[in-house]
Amino acid sequence: MKNIGFIGIGKLGLECAEVMAEQHEVRGYDIYPRISDSVKVCNIDELVNESEWIFIAVPTPHAEGYDGSVPSSHMEPRDFGHDAVIDAINKVNAHARSSKKVVLISTVLPGTTRKHFVPLLDSKHQFLYNPYLIAMGSVKWDMVNPEMIMIGTEDGDWNGIAGELKDLYDTVMQNNPRYEIGTWDECEAIKIFYNTFISAKVGLVNMVQDFAMKIGNINVDVVTDALARSTMRIMGPKYMTAGMGDAGACHPRDNIALRWLAQEYEIGYDFFDTVMHAREIQAKNLAQFLVEQSGDWIVGENLPIAIHGKAYKPDVPYCIGSYSTLVGHYIKELGHSVVYLDPMADDPADVVAELPGPHVVLWAHNRKITYEYTGDQLDTQPYCAIPAGSIIVDPWRKLNQTADGIKVIHYGNTRNPT
Ligand SMILES: NC(=O)c1ccc[n+]([C@@H]2O[C@H](COP(=O)([O-])OP(=O)(O)OC[C@H]3O[C@@H](n4cnc5c(N)ncnc54)[C@H](O)[C@@H]3O)[C@@H](O)[C@H]2O)c1
Repeated sequence: MKNIGFIGIGKLGLECAEVMAEQHEVRGYDIYPRISDSVKVCNIDELVNESEWIFIAVPTPHAEGYDGSVPSSHMEPRDFGHDAVIDAINKVNAHARSSKKVVLISTVLPGTTRKHFVPLLDSKHQFLYNPYLIAMGSVKWDMVNPEMIMIGTEDGDWNGIAGELKDLYDTVMQNNPRYEIGTWDECEAIKIFYNTFISAKVGLVNMVQDFAMKIGNINVDVVTDALARSTMRIMGPKYMTAGMGDAGACHPRDNIALRWLAQEYEIGYDFFDTVMHAREIQAKNLAQFLVEQSGDWIVGENLPIAIHGKAYKPDVPYCIGSYSTLVGHYIKELGHSVVYLDPMADDPADVVAELPGPHVVLWAHNRKITYEYTGDQLDTQPYCAIPAGSIIVDPWRKLNQTADGIKVIHYGNTRNPT
């Protein structure tokens, strides 16, 4: 039996504390009077000093009008409020006479814990970020049957108290949950992007509903049920590896044409414009990164840029809708030249045996990611010899250090970028 304290016993904290109290001795502290049959409500000094584990479940409120119950998309973007979390941390610092295991449950945006909370906590304490996927109305059931338990640590490893927190949860969980360990920042991201995936999904199916109402002869359920049964590509883990943008002969042009349909039927918003705009700016960001890398590594002068893979995917000659050429467009817009390497592409200039000197190389093609669903597991082989002094930027983060003198950067991994 462990001694556990909850600071903030409101809608989430109280029921979670009561679940814990079925197996452990649990105290609760709140700035408002609260009552419970199983959680001992006490003052902050008793809670801090009698508890080995201190869970913080205080509010991280949105500003007035930012809850989504009235129009807000025209309003200035605002972060959640952090005052209650900061107050709870200050109280732990002020009252604790020994080191504590502090666990933050409250929802915050990625980067918040490291930037705003950890620097405030006395260094004798240990800190975990552990957000919950819990819904009102089913708090106790959700608490012990979670889809996953996210445990965020400073470096994303099972060090320090992360394993101890798992052991603690194992005493109350009913569904043998999946544990996801990450940095504080990664767990903040998993929690908040989990929620926004749901928002995006609901936004898409309701858009089909809007089209059904405007176009006629469409039952939205026929369309969305067919999509829901499409487990091969869209309802599952496929397309969940970040890398090059969506490309090819169909998808980009479909979205571009759908912009017209949204306008024709006066849908009132344009999802497709948002999707295509994001795709373009993502390409521009990648181009900018390549240009930044081109400024010197070993040779002390600007490296030229090459894109390894010009066709929209490996093993085909088609460059229609190619994301590689879109990135190339932005590289040129930034005032740099770019060459393409592709044994299948339509231009003989793209077929070379060896690059003439060190380059920044964008590793645009990854055969395995594109074709592994067919059972084909072959990795992309280099399309030409890449000289020492080059930098390979791999947006798929699969390439290992290829040879001495070549630096590999995993784009999208700012924890271990090489
Ligand atoms: N409610 C949910 O379903 C849910 C699910 C997942 C995550 N969350 C997150 O959990 C956090 C808490 O949510 P909630 O719904 O329980 O909020 P809530 O407002 O119902 O409860 C928070 C409690 O903290 C208390 N409190 C406020 N400031 C305090 C302070 N300085 N010291 C001590 N106690 C203080 C309040 O009096 C209240 O009882 C939020 O960040 C929320 O986003 C909530």
